[in-house]
Amino acid sequence: MDIKAETAARTEQVNAVIAAYLPREEGRQKTVISAMNYSVLAGGKRLRPMLMQETYRMFGGRSKVIEPFMAAIEMIHTYSLVHDDLPAMDDDEYRRGKKTTHARYGEAMGILAGDGLLNLAFETAAKAFDIEPGNANIGKALQILAGKAGIYGMLGGQCVDVESEGQAVTKETLLFIYRLKTGALLEAAMVIGALLAGATKSEQKQVELAAGELGLAFQIQDDILDMTSTTETLGKPVGSDEKNGKTTYPALFGIEASAREVERLSKSSVERLDALVVKNEFLGQLMASLAYRES
Ligand code: IPE
Ligand code: IPE
Ligand code: MG
Ligand code: MG
Ligand code: MG
Repeated sequence: MDIKAETAARTEQVNAVIAAYLPREEGRQKTVISAMNYSVLAGGKRLRPMLMQETYRMFGGRSKVIEPFMAAIEMIHTYSLVHDDLPAMDDDEYRRGKKTTHARYGEAMGILAGDGLLNLAFETAAKAFDIEPGNANIGKALQILAGKAGIYGMLGGQCVDVESEGQAVTKETLLFIYRLKTGALLEAAMVIGALLAGATKSEQKQVELAAGELGLAFQIQDDILDMTSTTETLGKPVGSDEKNGKTTYPALFGIEASAREVERLSKSSVERLDALVVKNEFLGQLMASLAYRES
């Protein structure tokens, strides 16, 4: 399998799904809507909707009911990036190869565009009921999406991340931050895919554990790239963590040990999926490839 070509083809499919749910840039709120669309359409790997769709397919899902959730999770992820880049947070000027939303539209519009995307995400996900009105798993999926994005998930991780700036951080706290700020949305993506395809509770649990490990690997790799890559390759500033006094895994343990940990976690994550009865070759390869990603 040519993983690069397969991933590129799927990215296009995901982009089409997301585009179908974006609002028209019209009316008195035109500026904030433009800022929202600017942030979402700036690009990005579309990893979360892709993981969601592939997990859904893995468990035999074939309906369009997954599509509003795919768009929704990318809206939530994008909102988290828009707010992460704000002056009060990481204060970064580039994202996905373009000016950050607040740098392009001003700080107030940056805040509002993030809020707008978060609300639009749930309005969009709830449209799954228009596709399958009697599917009670949609309600459960909404609950997971809200929980994993909120104070016990991504948002909670971002809070501890910001509060830990300039502090000595233990490995335990660092992993708590990573599990929440990055792992939680990957867990939501894959568990919702599994749930909507009708996976059992124990299969969902296994998928959640695999996604959680993938999330840790993903964030450690993000931190390594912040120290070793270039702005051109990443499309976002390098050195952001040091600038903000963040303790990161590579800052604590060195780049080499961190790269080994990324490989170990990523391998373990793929093995958890391999242990399931159902298979998806592309998904396994996609997950494994993230350990060696350069952007
Ligand atoms: C960036 O996520 C934030 C982290 C959780 C490390 P991605 O690396 O998935 O960003 P995009 O969506 O491709 O821009
Ligand atoms: C952010 O972590 C994770 C989010 C929930 C947005 P980072 O602050 O390291 O993400 P980047 O490097 O700015 O993408
Ligand atoms: Mg941050
Ligand atoms: Mg950041
Ligand atoms: Mg980073």
